[in-house]
Amino acid sequence: MKILVACYSRTGTTKEVGEAIAKELGADFDEIVDLKKRTGLPPIRFLIAGKDATRKRKTNIKFERAAAGYDLIVIGTPVWAGNITPAVRTYLGAQRLDGKKVAFFCTYSIGHEKVFDEMKALVPKSVVVGTLGIPAKEVKAGDYLKRAKEFAESLKK
Ligand SMILES: Cc1cc2nc3c(=O)[nH]c(=O)nc-3n(C[C@H](O)[C@H](O)[C@H](O)COP(=O)(O)O)c2cc1C
Repeated sequence: MKILVACYSRTGTTKEVGEAIAKELGADFDEIVDLKKRTGLPPIRFLIAGKDATRKRKTNIKFERAAAGYDLIVIGTPVWAGNITPAVRTYLGAQRLDGKKVAFFCTYSIGHEKVFDEMKALVPKSVVVGTLGIPAKEVKAGDYLKRAKEFAESLKK
């Protein structure tokens, strides 16, 4: 089974989890890049980022690998204002995921209640085979690896 792990990550937390999952799966890894500047001047950019997520805005992104060549695509996002990020919203529409197996993961500070439902709704013709939410503090402490490995194992079945 050929697997792609792709994620957006503003400050590296989601990327760290994505790379660990990819390593565990022997998968290719791709970073989704948001071409809108999201770093620097934190307070104002933080507010704009949250507003873009709440309003379910898309953005301009770039990524390297087309989903077409893969059997399973594992997609990760940070939670922004309770939502998925604009970059991942755009990615889910830009890739051809109909009929593909997909799995989702996210990192967050407080909670991720709606996030996977929202991702599922954006790819109604995909088969969702797993989801994993990891708190950012677990990533910082290095405590996420066991759950990331279990998640990867469950996807291999
Ligand atoms: C604009 C913005 C909004 C956020 N909103 C939430 C939120 O509503 N709930 C939550 O649990 N975490 C929220 N967070 C925290 C991030 O989801 C968390 O720090 C995540 O691990 C960051 O991932 P990254 O390092 O890959 O960018 C927010 C972060 C940013 C930058």
